[in-house]
Amino acid sequence: MANRLGTLPRKLVVFTGAGMSAESGVDTFRTPGGIWQRYAVEDVATPEAWARDPDRVTDFYNMRRRQLVEEAMPHAGHRLIAQLEEHTEVRVVTQNVDDLHERAGSSHVLHLHGELRRVRSTGPDATSYPWEGWEVRPTDRCPAGYRLRPDVVWFGEEVPNWPVALHALQDADALLVVGTSLRVYPAAGLLEAMPASAHITLVDPDEIPLQRGVHLQATASEGLAELWKAWLPGMPL
Ligand code: APR
Repeated sequence: MANRLGTLPRKLVVFTGAGMSAESGVDTFRTPGGIWQRYAVEDVATPEAWARDPDRVTDFYNMRRRQLVEEAMPHAGHRLIAQLEEHTEVRVVTQNVDDLHERAGSSHVLHLHGELRRVRSTGPDATSYPWEGWEVRPTDRCPAGYRLRPDVVWFGEEVPNWPVALHALQDADALLVVGTSLRVYPAAGLLEAMPASAHITLVDPDEIPLQRGVHLQATASEGLAELWKAWLPGMPL
């Protein structure tokens, strides 16, 4: 019987969303109790929210950065994605603003929605800086004296890494999607951009409408372990 999960891809793109980090203790967005049930997007994640009340936006991202810095650790699924690099070419494209893929050892990680552990000058050059610790104070400034905003992509903003993500898909023979409700464009459009011949696998415990491909209805760590066994039979986890 043909393996429905296919064979080890030659060039794999792994596309992850909030569900990838759920088992690390990072909140998801649209699931029950998720971030967008507790906060209104328009209060904390738009350019207008920043213009209206930058302290509130700063507090929101401080809360999330604190969870990431003080509590979250990569889980077995993050580590399996990193270990796949020993066997094939792997590019990670993530909607997540955490650094859990990097901490697990993945070496090619593209962040579509920015990074929590970076801040950006609100001055004309918009320079991005790495940020130590979790707290950004309202009085913190870039070297040129401008206030610092989170280096994330807000609703209504361009996704500067989108063309880079599309480029990563070129000549990929498989796309592995993990833990995303696929409701946010343009990220959801990545699936449509995949070559027709490419194998698509979705790992997510929820019911998600999928045009084509295989849906492994499992958590990230369980689904990735299943894929590892199918792609690398006999190779210890
Ligand atoms: N393993 C895998 N998937 C999981 C797990 C888990 N343990 N727990 C939950 N999920 C799945 C949910 O079933 C859901 O499909 O993760 C998905 C999370 O969906 P969302 O909360 O909508 O997150 P995401 O798809 O990443 O959102 C995209 O929206 O608000 C923005 O910028 C934010 O990057 C985010 C984007």
